[in-house]
Amino acid sequence: MTSEVNSEQAEWWNAAGEGWANAQQVVDLVLRPFEELLAQKALERPRDRVLDVGCGTGAVTRAIADALGDGPECVGLDISRTMIAGAAQRGKVRFVLGDAQVHTFDETFDLVVSRFGVMFFDDPAAAFRNLLRATTPGGELCFITWRSAEENTFMTTAQRASAPFLADTPPPDPSGPGPFSLADADRTRELFEQSGWSGIVIEPVDRVCTMPEELLVPYLSNLGPISRALKAAQEADRPRIISEVRGAFDEFVHGDEVRIPAACWQITGQAL
Ligand SMILES: C[S@@+](CC[C@H](N)C(=O)[O-])C[C@H]1O[C@@H](n2cnc3c(N)ncnc32)[C@H](O)[C@@H]1O
Repeated sequence: MTSEVNSEQAEWWNAAGEGWANAQQVVDLVLRPFEELLAQKALERPRDRVLDVGCGTGAVTRAIADALGDGPECVGLDISRTMIAGAAQRGKVRFVLGDAQVHTFDETFDLVVSRFGVMFFDDPAAAFRNLLRATTPGGELCFITWRSAEENTFMTTAQRASAPFLADTPPPDPSGPGPFSLADADRTRELFEQSGWSGIVIEPVDRVCTMPEELLVPYLSNLGPISRALKAAQEADRPRIISEVRGAFDEFVHGDEVRIPAACWQITGQAL
């Protein structure tokens, strides 16, 4: 079923999906430490069926399928048509278009994972309840989400560097849908407990994500606020914008490598 309640987010991610698809290889390279973490988690026990929520173009779904080998089915669910269109199906990997908050699943899963795909619900408690309904009793969740904006300065640098080139945008509501909506661990624990999940553990996970320096501009140009600033600009102004925003990222460049400290939570829990 493809009913949808988060239509603003769907619109947002349909537009963003084009950039993500263009930059898919570099995004997957940068976020690989979290792909590896979730694939390791999948290997902790035998699995029958795994769900990847907000799977984007599906790198984590495919990595888990590869780690588990023949047998378990891996399903990626995403609200964005453009993301799902860019997700390559193969073997026992399947991608489904749907809003995780209300999607009616035809099957249940014994592991539900997400890499940065569960912070965008207008009613997170309802979404986590819906995911609990989709989980086999005894099954587990493992979600990777961002800690605060203050601890993730690469992301705040992108916001700051693009601000002069974007028409006034209201400051994001930190508790509304957005990358940092689960940053407050106490509130997040309450949300999961209210939704009926048991044994919730929220642990800090810190990784340094890397990419070759020559991929920094393609990365910035396709993702987040800088890609929106470039889209909004006249063609002739784009090279100047790119060179100005690139300068703001010097502190992350070490020789020919970009290093991005990523401050995250790993949220785990069980369905009883
Ligand atoms: C930051 S991206 C992460 C994509 C992917 N997990 C990865 O790590 O490459 C967030 C993803 O969540 C998806 N998303 C946002 N709201 C959603 C919802 N209500 N249901 C399903 N997917 C959603 C977006 O379309 C987007 O693909």
